[in-house]
Amino acid sequence: MVTSLRAFLQQSKQLVEKRLPKQIQAMQAPEQLKKAMLYSLNAGGKRVRPAFVFATLKSFGAPLERGIDVACALEMIHTYSLVHDDLPAMDDDDLRRGKPTNHKVFGEALAILAGDALLTYSFQLLSSLDKDYATDKQKVELIHEISRAAGPAGMVGGQVADMAGEDQSLTLDELVYIHHHKTGDLLTASVMSGAILAEASEDDCKLLRQFSKELGLIFQIKDDLLDVEGDASVIGKPVGSDVDNNKSTYPNLLGLDGAKEKLSEHMSLAKEYIYGINIDHSILIGLTDYIANRDH
Ligand code: IPE
Ligand code: IPE
Ligand code: MG
Ligand code: MG
Ligand code: MG
Repeated sequence: MVTSLRAFLQQSKQLVEKRLPKQIQAMQAPEQLKKAMLYSLNAGGKRVRPAFVFATLKSFGAPLERGIDVACALEMIHTYSLVHDDLPAMDDDDLRRGKPTNHKVFGEALAILAGDALLTYSFQLLSSLDKDYATDKQKVELIHEISRAAGPAGMVGGQVADMAGEDQSLTLDELVYIHHHKTGDLLTASVMSGAILAEASEDDCKLLRQFSKELGLIFQIKDDLLDVEGDASVIGKPVGSDVDNNKSTYPNLLGLDGAKEKLSEHMSLAKEYIYGINIDHSILIGLTDYIANRDH
């Protein structure tokens, strides 16, 4: 990874990791609930969604500070989705971000509630953004974009389709639908949040959306590949979970080589869209390469 990208990821990570605990600590809420929320938020993670908020801001020459609370809100929504995704009723996984999953430590009931709290609080955060960073109009746009992406037509719908697809042989189109929604939509919302805050033009937003759709596929194809080829001690979650749950995945449908071929096709498309925008391309291109080549 080039040094400048490494430094950018480090900076973006630090910005959210400094702010997240402060937000939780300031809550008027039962200590046990705050503990369960913080446990999963503090467990680490690559902070990819925040990185895309900041990367988009940076590409348009806007200050990163403007995106901190939005990046935290997206990381909270993502973390809630992981806490629920790991529950026995869903993927039933014991390891997440290198630590026992939330329900293993706090029990299922509190894990469910901690997820609910992270999701709900994220919208409180978005509606209370500092007026120096977002106008009321931008706040409504952000809330619309993010709630759509996280909700029934987005991530939750994708998770339902993913579950319904267990023990079934799906077509590639059906699998693409699942990947777009369960994973792609929140990544799209991250990029588009940066675009909203940077006041990107309509034409640029259109290209960013097309880019993000490719990005979602790249991200989840790589996640599926890591579930087969990854090292649990490096990725911090179990390998083989998809096979255990009889999930349809790219490697399962197309084989490892077929999945890798698709990954590189979507990489080319993603880059084309980015090069079509008149911005500093380096950071979004670098991040996309990182997503496709990561080992965790
Ligand atoms: C895992 O997301 C869940 C998917 C959407 C595939 P990440 O790979 O971003 O997980 P963390 O945040 O780094 O733990
Ligand atoms: C989960 O996909 C996506 C969401 C949590 C929305 P996976 O079930 O493949 O994610 P991992 O592999 O458990 O992180
Ligand atoms: Mg899952
Ligand atoms: Mg899972
Ligand atoms: Mg997975």
